[in-house]
Amino acid sequence: MPQFTDIISEPSPGVYILAIESSCDDTSAAVLLNRKALSNVVASQKIHEEFGGVVPELASRAHQVNIVPVVDAAIKKAGITMDDLGAIAYTSGPGLLGSLLVGTSFAKSLAYAKSIPLIEVNHMKAHILAHFIENADDEYPEFPFLCLTVSGGHTQIVKITAPDEMVILSETIDDAAGEAFDKIAKIMGLGYPGGPVVDKLAQMGDPRSIEFPISNLPDDQFSFSGLKTSVLYFLQKKIDENPDYIEENKADLCASVQYTIVQTLIRKLEKVAKREGVKTLVVAGGVSANSELRRELFDLGRRHGWSTFVPEFQYCTDNAAMIGLAGYVQYMIGARAQLNSVATARIEWGKEDKD
Ligand code: KG4
Ligand code: ZN
Repeated sequence: MPQFTDIISEPSPGVYILAIESSCDDTSAAVLLNRKALSNVVASQKIHEEFGGVVPELASRAHQVNIVPVVDAAIKKAGITMDDLGAIAYTSGPGLLGSLLVGTSFAKSLAYAKSIPLIEVNHMKAHILAHFIENADDEYPEFPFLCLTVSGGHTQIVKITAPDEMVILSETIDDAAGEAFDKIAKIMGLGYPGGPVVDKLAQMGDPRSIEFPISNLPDDQFSFSGLKTSVLYFLQKKIDENPDYIEENKADLCASVQYTIVQTLIRKLEKVAKREGVKTLVVAGGVSANSELRRELFDLGRRHGWSTFVPEFQYCTDNAAMIGLAGYVQYMIGARAQLNSVATARIEWGKEDKD
């Protein structure tokens, strides 16, 4: 099975890439030397917590405030100067348009001022490619592999046959897995983002105490909006009987919701992997930080003798190091963006024979 390094060979001397991520509510900058992340600075925007979700206009404004100090910190932490940079990579989409524009404009201006190559990166591909950031074990997925990409905006199973060859095999038809965590946490009054809170409370609960429906759609579809509605109706009924129901059953509720979401994801991943005959499975995106999802993935691998990979925590949620790695792939295959390239909120990608 081919390795990443069989397909993309290391340039010598190495190339320093500054990467910028601003697609949602995290302003992040990183410096990579080839596949090694020398820095990965993330400024998470707290302003959205009080609204229970990301407010796009506030996110753009916060990116504008954060971007210069975050880039500055990433350069300093990497121990280099701007003059050492060989290229600048940035997220061009998908994401919130106003937020993307901040990173895009910054990256373009800097690339122009320094006369160095500009590289645009697809945020979703970058989540997957985060697995190839140099790590202490020096172990990476071999091609072909399947990635379950689960974030606040996306739920996909993607088949990756080479660093820039990816096809989406399954996708959500409504809410994303992270969105389900966030919306259900909001119904329960647990704050935003809900995923990490549910994960923490679930550790103390019984995952089989309350039975919620596990959707069983065709292989190419996920759905999570039914679960959200089912939790809402269930809670309305229980609160009618006992106004303190949520408070008294928080841990069991979180454990049961988490169990349902994770089982929905893992069962489909297992089916698709068997169908495709793929023996390497990875997870990516913010929800891959979930402790039960990580456990279940390893368990799935053990049962079938498949290799499994989960990213380091810092590379699960939005971060610029993954943009740097995806930028490195684009750099090595000679892809360059122009100064008139545009940020795109929605990107068509990963369709068979097109990408
Ligand atoms: O990839 P990401 O940082 O941003 C997007 O591109 O959406 O993912 C954010 C999502 C949020 O929905 C958040 O609740 C979820 O990832 N998340 C988690 C955990 N940590 C973050 N969901 C479940 N368990 C976690 N530990
Ligand atoms: Zn993301």
